[in-house]
Amino acid sequence: MYKIAVLPGDGTGFEQVTEGLKVLKAAEDKFGFKLETTDYDLGGERYMRTGEVLPESVLEELKAFDAIFLGAIGHPDVKPGILEKGLLLKLRFDLDLYVNLRPVKLFPGVNTPLKDKGPDDIDFVVVRENTEGLYCGAGGFLRKGTPHEVAVQESVNTRMGVERCLRYAFEYCRDKRVRKKLTLCGKTNVLTYAFDLWERAFHEIGPDYTGVERDYAHVDAICMWMVKNPEWFDVIVTDNIFGDIITDLGAMIQGGMGIAAGGNIHPGKVSMFEPIGGSAPKYTGLGVINPLASICAGAMMLDHLGETEAAARIEQAVATVCSKKLKSLNAGQMGYSTAEVGDLVVREL
Ligand code: IPM
Ligand code: MN
Repeated sequence: MYKIAVLPGDGTGFEQVTEGLKVLKAAEDKFGFKLETTDYDLGGERYMRTGEVLPESVLEELKAFDAIFLGAIGHPDVKPGILEKGLLLKLRFDLDLYVNLRPVKLFPGVNTPLKDKGPDDIDFVVVRENTEGLYCGAGGFLRKGTPHEVAVQESVNTRMGVERCLRYAFEYCRDKRVRKKLTLCGKTNVLTYAFDLWERAFHEIGPDYTGVERDYAHVDAICMWMVKNPEWFDVIVTDNIFGDIITDLGAMIQGGMGIAAGGNIHPGKVSMFEPIGGSAPKYTGLGVINPLASICAGAMMLDHLGETEAAARIEQAVATVCSKKLKSLNAGQMGYSTAEVGDLVVREL
């Protein structure tokens, strides 16, 4: 029995988690586990109604769950930054979810914009540091609003924070991957403090992980090679902002936001799983959004909880539905409604 907090969030988040949960529920009996879910109405609507984004009491409650299943955050009537910082980033930071794990895997039959590349070429995982870097909010304004205004935004990289993220990536690479190649994505030629620390830590702890090949590339080159030679990558580890950017690129080469899922993880503690795309408010309630990202996030959640067989079988079912049924992974072009796609995965499972 696992206790799951469900946060549908905004826009199409509700439709997405509904299908994600449908598939998780369908897996319960077959694989012998049970999910006890509790819904939380956090998001733009609640904020506009009550002014609350994430009350401290709710944050405390969330710590008692085995995992959090998140839909999407972002509301067109709420100023950008309020929900992102007050809810999504606050959860990541306050629950200390120091790894953002984002698989980039092209399933057979799914269209990629990369010409002549297929499932054998696009199959890697990004381990994004999730609690530091440019996201920590360090910096500020000086003389704001004047012609002499100064805005400083600092990237904070602690040895502890960097090392625990690197160790997660090394372990993941050693234990879960076949090729066992770990690429550090940085910018050592310009960001000579931050990535000096990353690079030193990378090579200092590397020898603890026998069998893992160490590789380094600058972030701009990684963007180039993710398009030109994605088959070069197995596991990529990087800081918060670079991880944010390269995983949107990753999502596009694996078939789009309709399928891209991620986990915000602190091993051994409550962790949070989500589609990596946004709330897509313009599609709200239309039943056209692709729920596969949420379904894949659900599979990642099960994997994290130790239900590895169920997780693998859901992923397999998603792959089959992609190759045999869906016309496209894009919203409104799937050939099926949101709920029908959930049903197809359940039937396949
Ligand atoms: C993501 C998103 C978030 C981020 C935003 C919504 C704050 O883009 O999960 O990648 O930048 O991390
Ligand atoms: Mn992002």
